[in-house]
Amino acid sequence: MKNHILLYAILFSFAAHGQNPDWTNNISCILYSHCTSCHNPNGIAPFSLLTYSDALANATEMKNQVQSKKMPPFLADANYQQYAHQKTLTQYEIDQISDWVDNGALPGDTTLAMPAPSYSSGAIIQNPDFSSSIGTYNIPVLNNDEYRCFVISNPSATDEYITAFEVIPGNRAAVHHVLIFSDNTNIPVQLDLADPDPGYLNFGGTGSAASQLIGGFVPGSDPYYLPPNMGMFVPAGSRIIIQIHYPISSSGLTDSTRVNFTFSPTAVRTAYDAAVLDHLATIVDGPLYIPANTVKTFHEQYTVPVDVSVLSVAPHAHLVCTSMSSYAVKPNGDTIHFETIPHWDFHWQGAYYFQKPLHLPAGTVLYGEATYDNTINNPENPNDPPQDVSLGESTTDEMMLFYFVYTAYFPGDENTVIDTSGLIPHYLN
Ligand code: HEC
Repeated sequence: MKNHILLYAILFSFAAHGQNPDWTNNISCILYSHCTSCHNPNGIAPFSLLTYSDALANATEMKNQVQSKKMPPFLADANYQQYAHQKTLTQYEIDQISDWVDNGALPGDTTLAMPAPSYSSGAIIQNPDFSSSIGTYNIPVLNNDEYRCFVISNPSATDEYITAFEVIPGNRAAVHHVLIFSDNTNIPVQLDLADPDPGYLNFGGTGSAASQLIGGFVPGSDPYYLPPNMGMFVPAGSRIIIQIHYPISSSGLTDSTRVNFTFSPTAVRTAYDAAVLDHLATIVDGPLYIPANTVKTFHEQYTVPVDVSVLSVAPHAHLVCTSMSSYAVKPNGDTIHFETIPHWDFHWQGAYYFQKPLHLPAGTVLYGEATYDNTINNPENPNDPPQDVSLGESTTDEMMLFYFVYTAYFPGDENTVIDTSGLIPHYLN
């Protein structure tokens, strides 16, 4: 992959800006590398960009979207921190698309075009070690948002370490978000038996204090890959619990969400996922309450008790939120940047992976900050006229969470390169 990127840089450093790019030679590889994972007939985007005629039909809008950096979606400011698997276009790629559009969006000789990538299912992880769906769930008529937990029996009779996981929502119109837990008690099964419908209703967690968060899915998120030699520990005999938030708008729809896991064949270091900065235990100026027609900023703070290596951060809030940032200050005074999202967008959430694990010595203080605009100036405001908004589970309530994936620190972690290239192969001519 590194060689490809180098080759790409060398090739394109000779191609003068302002030449007339065509789809076959210049544009298709950019779209296949950065767009078609979503813009394909089975993808989450509303139209495909796999063929020349697809690209031509959307050419002007593509130029607008890449110039304004709205596409591909990536919320975190890449000047504040650089990420592994970072999904941004280079300025060169943006210019190529703009020049192509301005010069008539020419096809070139499409018979020479490289084969388009194929996307047969919604899954990105190929050949998972474990794949299971919730079955077919017919969502009843809802009077409230529903949080339903589905219990999946243990994928394996032995201890396992999950090295990658992916949630494939069965119905993107119905699934607001998904959390995956493991649990080695009987409580989830008992709760399931007590509820006549598939799974059981439970707000917040799973209803079992023993449940361990593995990870989740929110709109816009990709599969989660742990770094080499790390995994999420699932003890033998545990069950997997998939908690799905169905908003009231999903009344009467059908869902069959699936999870895919890969396991490590050997024991590896255990990584944990937790909302270390949160709107109940670590908020310093709560409660999270935003009266109608106000703009308010809240802060969260937590002191790390032991040395850890942090692998990723995933901020989470709803529609009234407009910006979210997090960082840490080490005992020696150094600041570590996690992320800053200047324009929070509820529709594009996800985890930001650091290029190397970040070492936080014991005593490091984590800080989170988020601003909420509950006025008519916020186009995402769910209420017109604005209503008072407080902490809650429904999409129209608010939240302020920063999930971190972390592991106990080992000397040298900070020098481990996790990834500096994309997860998606870069298609070259
Ligand atoms: C992670 C998935 C994803 C990726 C990657 C992605 N898109 Fe999109 N795109 C979407 C979705 C979903 C929409 C529908 C609007 C929305 O939800 O924001 C969209 C909308 C668009 C639109 C229409 C915007 C409008 O408001 O009319 C254009 C044009 C577009 N994308 C171009 C691109 C281009 C060009 C790339 C690659 C450089 C790209 N997209 C990459 C998911 C994606």
